[in-house]
This record gives sequence, structure tokens and C-alpha cells, in this order.
Amino acid sequence: MNIVVMGAQWGDEGKGKIVDYLAADAGIAVRFSGGANAGHTIVIGGERYALHLVPSGILYPDKTVVLGTGMVIDPEALFAELEGLAERGVDWRGRVLISDRAHIVLPSYRRRDKEMEAARRRPIGTTGRGIGVAYALKASRDGVRLADLGDEERLANLEPEDAAFAREWRARLEPMAVDLVAYLRAHRNAYVLFEGAQGALLDIDTGSYPFVSSGMSCAAGAAAQGGIGPRRIDRVLGVFKAYTTRVGNGPFPTEFADDSPGSLSQYIRETGNEYGVTTGRPRRCGYLDLVALRYAAVTNSIDRLVLTHLDVYDELDEFEACVAYRIRGRLVEDFPSSVRDLEDAEPVLRRFTGWKRSIAAARAYEELPREARDYIAFIEEYVETPVSMVSVGSDRAQTIVRESPWTRS
Ligand code: GDP
Ligand code: IMO
Ligand code: MG
Repeated sequence: MNIVVMGAQWGDEGKGKIVDYLAADAGIAVRFSGGANAGHTIVIGGERYALHLVPSGILYPDKTVVLGTGMVIDPEALFAELEGLAERGVDWRGRVLISDRAHIVLPSYRRRDKEMEAARRRPIGTTGRGIGVAYALKASRDGVRLADLGDEERLANLEPEDAAFAREWRARLEPMAVDLVAYLRAHRNAYVLFEGAQGALLDIDTGSYPFVSSGMSCAAGAAAQGGIGPRRIDRVLGVFKAYTTRVGNGPFPTEFADDSPGSLSQYIRETGNEYGVTTGRPRRCGYLDLVALRYAAVTNSIDRLVLTHLDVYDELDEFEACVAYRIRGRLVEDFPSSVRDLEDAEPVLRRFTGWKRSIAAARAYEELPREARDYIAFIEEYVETPVSMVSVGSDRAQTIVRESPWTRS
């Protein structure tokens, strides 16, 4: 059975936590997109792990994890992460595989990423990890895949610094290489989780272009770039927060205008610990954007939603969510393609009553306050998609499952 777990907003929705939770019942976890731009956090009994390249199934001793074809992999960052895990007692040897079709991030890419940002009149706010350069070279057919590292003719085309780096790392990478298509065919009866990075609105095709990342963070990416065909995806879970965050630049219709001390924006940032895992940047905050969420659900065939960070609203008397945009006087319910339209979009907000008590200890849906369930019911109706899981805190245990995604319907 193949389940995709992807972000349904602008990243950092809690994908790592959800993949870790669901991986208890999986055999294999495959990360299908992105690179060291991602930061996926898992908290188990107060122990916090921040993963960037390694799939979020790694913390169970018996799972195999695979870095998929759609990823762009910086070997230095990967081995630093693996060594960090080993120091904390996570034995990863023999169970971290890398698709031999995945692309390698070379040292000059990071430099060029920063140079390109500096030259942009409107910078994207990239993470500076060489991600855009790696995907651009992949598309222009000048990239280097894991399978190419032994090909001296291929390396001869590279800048000397990059070629030396490729030769330096290949001996450590090659034993981990796998033909992902053949591997998943051989394990066709396994329970496989496909872990996305970034989110629907940072996807190169369906996101808020050009303020996006460069990979396929859409559900379709799990197929082409995860090693299976599109019809083998059994379920797509879209993870979203009770509100919205965004790091980096670009339009954000529901962003709070007031970010001064004591504002709701700062309250949510502090309560939700909304600081980037990879860059430490404060995340921009705003109300839930249902126009964007429904767009994400449709473009990705999301069949179940996973709501996270509901606990962050525990102390609010009331809050709002965006149900339409007003763009230069026009009422719009479809997520616009044009950045200018998105920038001009004023959210039409609907008000909800808060529950004013802690839900951190809730473990069953019925334990959630009626106001919280009303909010969820409204989201389900608007997006026309059931919310099958609710997260009420960062810890693995703080998870409510209404319907297990592993159950075939
Ligand atoms: P990812 O990139 O989608 O994996 O998400 P990140 O790890 O970048 O950001 C999510 C942050 O929220 C992390 O600090 C998590 O530990 C935390 N988190 C996840 N789920 C919840 C939740 O339900 N409530 C709260 N308060 N924090 C959560
Ligand atoms: P996870 O997987 C949030 C954003 C960057 C920037 C834009 C392009 O943790 O959800 P890049 O370095 O990829 O060229 O930057 O994309 N971005 C993310 N924002 N979560 C992420 O990953 C992100 N990965 C990239 O901030 O705006
Ligand atoms: Mg993140």
C-alpha cells in the first residue's frame, strides 16, 4: 500500500511528525522531493530531532528509508545528519538507501544560489542550499546523478572544485545506491510512506510561482520521483496547520498585517515556535487560508486532510479563516495564478469561537471541545475533504486518529 504525505500549504505543516507517526505501521519511507532546504521535526518524549535529508521513518530501528529520485542531495549535509543521528543512538547503517537517479548538490551550486538571489530585484528568500541550481541543471541536462559519480567522462565537464568533491564523496554514497523502481517493484506488497518536502504552494508548477522552491512537492511528484507509477498511489494525505505560515518572500493573502510586540502574529509565532528548522528565520504568520487549501486539495487529489497545531489556538477567544479573496473589488474563490492578483488579494474572513482550554492531552476526537470540532467540520465542508487526523502538540503521542490511512476503503 502506498500513502503520500505532503504539505498542503507553504511548508512546515508538520509533515515530519505525521510521517514519523504513521511509519510505525510502514515498512519503507521514501522522501520524494527537495533537499537540505527542508527541515522536518520529530519529538518523542521530549527528545527533538531535526531532519533535513533523511526521511522521517529513520527513528524506528527496523524501517528502511530511501532518498528518492526527486531529491537533490548534498552528501556533506547528508553525512553530517547521519553522524548526528548515530551520536544520538540511531543506528542507520544498512537501512538508508539513495535512488541512483537522484541528483547530487555540488559545492558551486550553493555559491551560485546566493549569487542569483543577490542579483534578483525581488529575491525569493531561498535557503541558500543550492536547491534551485541543482534543479535547473537537472532540467538543462547538466546535472550529476548518483549513478553518474563513477563516470569520469561526466565529471570532466565539471568545475575542478565540483569534480574533486564528487570523487571525494562517491565511495561513501555508492554503497547506498539503489534502483528505486526495481526496489519498490520487489517490495510491491510493502506498506510504503512517500514523504513530501515543502508544500503544495511551493511546488514549481502549482505553487505561487516564482516564489516557490524548484522541486515537485506535489503528490504527482511522489510517483515520477518516488519510483512508482501514478496509479499505484492509494491515498494522498495533505497536512495543514490550523493557521498559515510562510518563510521567505512572496505573496501571502492572509498574513497578519500587525507583527508588533503583543500582536496575534507574535503570539502565534511564539506559541507555535514558528522559526525555521533549517535557517532559524522567523516564519510569517496568518489565518488559515481555505481558498489556498482547497486549491491544494484539488491539484493533488488529497483525499484526507491532517490538521496540525490546533493547540496553538487554545487560548484565543475567537479567530478567523479566509473563505474568499477580494481582488481589486472582485470576489474570488479560486487560487489565482498571477502573483499580482495574490498580492492584491484581501481575505474575506469568517469568524470562529475559541475553546479557551488546553487540548494538548486529547487523544480521541470526542475529547476535543465542541468549538474545535465545529472549526474542523467547517474546513471539511469547505474543502470537501475529511480531516482524518488531528495533531494537538509536537510530540509523537499528541496525535488523534479518526481513521487510519492504512485501512483500505
Ligand atoms: P515539516 O517541515 O512539515 O516537517 O514541519 P517543521 O518540522 O518544519 O515545523 C513544524 C513545527 O511544529 C515543528 O517544530 C514541530 O515539532 C511542531 N509541531 C508539529 N505538530 C504540531 C502540533 O500539532 N502542535 C504544535 N504546537 N507543534 C507542532
Ligand atoms: P519543509 O519540507 C518552508 C522556501 C524558502 C524560499 C523558497 C525557495 O521543511 O516544509 P529554496 O532554498 O528551496 O530554493 O527556497 O522555498 N522553502 C521552504 N519553506 N518549508 C520548507 O521545507 C521549505 N523549503 C524551501 O524559504 O521561500
Ligand atoms: Mg519544515
